[in-house]
Amino acid sequence: MKGLILSGGKGTRLRPLTFTQAKQLVPVANKPVLFYGIEALVGAGIREIGIIVGDTRTEIRGAVGDGRRWGDDVRITYIEQPEPLGLAHAVLIAEEFLGREPFVMYLGDNILKSGIVSLVDSFRERKPNALILLTPVPNPQIFGVAELENGKVVRLVEKPREPKSNLALVGVYMFDSHIFEAVRAIKPSWRNELEITDAIQFLVDHGYEVQPHLVAGWWKDTGKIEDILEANRLILETISGLVEGAVDEATRVSGEVIIEKGASVRSSTIRGPAIIGAGTEIADSYIGPFTSIQKNCRIVKTEIEHSIVLEGSEIVDVGSRIDESLIGREVRIYKCPPKPLAYRFMVGDKSEIGLK
Ligand code: G1P
Repeated sequence: MKGLILSGGKGTRLRPLTFTQAKQLVPVANKPVLFYGIEALVGAGIREIGIIVGDTRTEIRGAVGDGRRWGDDVRITYIEQPEPLGLAHAVLIAEEFLGREPFVMYLGDNILKSGIVSLVDSFRERKPNALILLTPVPNPQIFGVAELENGKVVRLVEKPREPKSNLALVGVYMFDSHIFEAVRAIKPSWRNELEITDAIQFLVDHGYEVQPHLVAGWWKDTGKIEDILEANRLILETISGLVEGAVDEATRVSGEVIIEKGASVRSSTIRGPAIIGAGTEIADSYIGPFTSIQKNCRIVKTEIEHSIVLEGSEIVDVGSRIDESLIGREVRIYKCPPKPLAYRFMVGDKSEIGLK
């Protein structure tokens, strides 16, 4: 079986971060979201992986490379999608890479806690034409939604205004080569995309077997800040502490905390689960639960929790606690001189600032 990861798209819901960074490379627990997908495929025994790339191709290639870091026999092929014309369009342009082999299609901004090993095994064994993953959600209208009857898929609708069920399509699908017939037959949707949801409906309508599976563990589509912070929380809940950096005696570390090599922590309290990246300096601060600080940051006289700070950022002497925040790369947040008593901003387009 081959793997196809979709890593194009513009990431509009994560601006301003995505003006300068691919949404699939935003880190969760200090690891790019995309790497969780690659690891899920490799974990299921897949060695040949195609990655669909768009505008952020250079950055994605730079971060992922040729795949060997996941194993000597893992090969990554990049497939260019000139415009984001939909998930089914991505399948269409990957036909040459995929050949006639069955494949797993994985959306590069999705994280599935339980991985996909048992699902891939079941697909290999039972050989349906497609296998889809579903999970109940409170807001089905923002996803593809499936209707089941007696355990069989009868209808799939992309972002329905009036959803007929609460079962969302999770961004992991398995197909055999009949999917090419489907993606060629469908027409673009109202958002001018070839929808994979419509292609699967085509399979259902033409008598192909589409097997539904309910996802057991949690699933996150990390397209929005709330979801990234939530995914960060869920992944951090699973880490085991490991202190390899320098921690002085005046510091208190409790719970599961990873402090990477080359990080230094002085006179601070770190309450896990949390992760502090290599080369980061923390002093006179409180780092609370569910916080990921990437490498080469500086956090001084600051309290922060339930947040993600990307590499190279500096937060110094912030009077009150920072909570539920996603702070980009090389950002500086600091205390202004006492007079005049004012806020000072230099904030990029589409940024968001919440004041108390
Ligand atoms: C896409 C699919 C949708 C699916 C979702 C899962 O939505 O079109 O059916 O439920 O991924 O993440 P999009 O991210 O394009 O809005």
